[in-house]
This record gives sequence, C-alpha cells and structure tokens, in this order.
Amino acid sequence: MATTLPRALPHLDERQTAMLAEMGIAPWWAPRALLPQPRVATAAAERAPEPPALPRPPAATPATPPAVPPTSPSKPTVAPPPVASAAPVHPHDAAAALDIDALDWDALHAAIHACQRCALAGCRRRAVPGVGDRRPDWLIVGEAPGEEEDRQGEPFVGRAGQLLDRMLAAMGLRRGQGVYIANVIKCRPPRNRNPEPDEIARCTPYLLRQIALLQPRLVLAMGRFAAQTLLAEGGCDSPDTLLRTPLGRLRGRVYTARLAGLALPVVVTYHPAYLLRNPADKAKTWADLCLALDTAEALHRAAPGAAAGIGV
Ligand code: URA
Repeated sequence: MATTLPRALPHLDERQTAMLAEMGIAPWWAPRALLPQPRVATAAAERAPEPPALPRPPAATPATPPAVPPTSPSKPTVAPPPVASAAPVHPHDAAAALDIDALDWDALHAAIHACQRCALAGCRRRAVPGVGDRRPDWLIVGEAPGEEEDRQGEPFVGRAGQLLDRMLAAMGLRRGQGVYIANVIKCRPPRNRNPEPDEIARCTPYLLRQIALLQPRLVLAMGRFAAQTLLAEGGCDSPDTLLRTPLGRLRGRVYTARLAGLALPVVVTYHPAYLLRNPADKAKTWADLCLALDTAEALHRAAPGAAAGIGV
C-alpha cells in the first residue's frame, strides 16, 4: 500500500506516509513550510525516519537554563498554587499519610490500585496507572480511562487509543518503546464524564511522581485536562488563565514546565477522542506532532551525547 501512496510531506518516508494515511491524514497535507510556524527554534527540515535520542531535561534549579530555548508564551508572573499537593486528603483515605513523592514504581502502582482519595475509587473496575518504557524520551499524557481502559487496566486501548497508536506510528514512535503513556486521572469517571477539579487535584500527585520516576525528555499533553494540569503544575501560567483558555489557543508552542524538579518541554495538542469527533482538526494535530518532533530534534542537537535511545 505504501508504494502507491503519494508522499504526504517531502521529508517523510513511505512508511510514515502510510501511517499518516492510516491516521486519516490525506496526502493533501500542506508542506510544513506552509503550516503556521510554531514559536520554537526548529531544526532542519529533513528528519531521519527514527527520531534521535534526546538529552534528559535539566533539573529545574534557578541556575540551570531550560533544555529548550524558552519558547513558551511568557513566564508566569505568579507561580500557580500547587494544584494537587494542596488538596486535602480524602477523609477515608486509608493511606492518608502516604508520601507519594517517596514511592518507587511498585509502591506507586500499589498505591494507585488501592487509592481511595476520591469517589472514583467506588466506580472503577481497575485503576489505570500507565504503561510503557520507564526510561522514555516521550511521555504522553491523556485525560482519564474510558470503559475499555477500565476493563483492561491499560491506558488508551479503546478507539481513541487506536488513533493514538497511529499518531505515534506516524511520528516513528511505538507504544512502549521510548514512550510512556499515562493519564491525569487514574480511574474512570462514570459514563466518561469530564473529571472534576477535585478529582484532578487528588490524582495529580501520582502523575507528578510518575514524571519524577520517568524523567521523560518531552511531554505531549493531549486534551485540555492534561494541558491545564501540566501547565499549571509546571508554572507556565496561572490555573485561572489556563482554565479560561481554549485548547486551540494553548497549542502551537513549546512550554517549559517545571515538573518534578525538571524543566520539561511540553507540547499541547488535541485529544484523540476529540479528533474522532472532529477529524478536521487532525491537520492542526499533525502540526503539533511535527512541532514535538522538531523539539526533540533540537534537544538532540543541543546535547547529541545523550545516552539513552528511543526504543531501548
Ligand atoms: N482517553 C484518555 O484520555 N485516556 C485513556 O486512557 C483513554 C481514553
């Protein structure tokens, strides 16, 4: 099939072109030069089929500049309150004294599976901590498990997950190989309703601990709940402003979020479930994914000696 497809973009090989077609992105894609230029220092237009290993983000100490040129809109004038850690612990949380920040992987997963920090504990079949490479280049953050994820205990295994897998494939990435996938919320909200602020606040410490353990090099925030949570926690803007800003205005740039002691590049894009309902926005999503790939490439150029590689 790939050999009969016209190239979607000049720098993509046939496999990636086929992946884009699978993602539902037709070859009428505009060349990147014609796409709105992201506010990030992009690297060369040519990209190798396999993305390079990325340097690890620097620790978020004041003296250390961010790994990516500061392309975020502006530094926050007021650091947002620590959304998650400030949340009062649920009264019937048996692990009220649990220091999530001190947990290793096994203890973290055990805590998530036993979690009673919010009412979602009473509705879940299985908590869904996350899946993938525990020393990843990429961390993909979604919203919350849906029905299929709740059944299987793995994020993004339903229809939205299939689209995510095709998006990853179009980027030359694969679930589990240099990629970790997690959600802001670890338990399914009933009838897939939006997560409540309180639920997000109580669950965010788990995500932050995952980030500390994973030390990813780049974060892709999919959908507004992931974007708002990561950007607020990362001090990129105030929670109030983020809540009022539609996702369409959050995307299209690279933020530097200070998360779990790291200065992490964060790229925001649409959620795959949204794209299933609004396929016209796949074009913008592809632009975001290109921005993320360009950022990865720029990071690699800035520190080519990075040890870890994608897929190891
Ligand atoms: N949507 C999400 O945000 N996460 C999942 O795991 C599945 C669907």
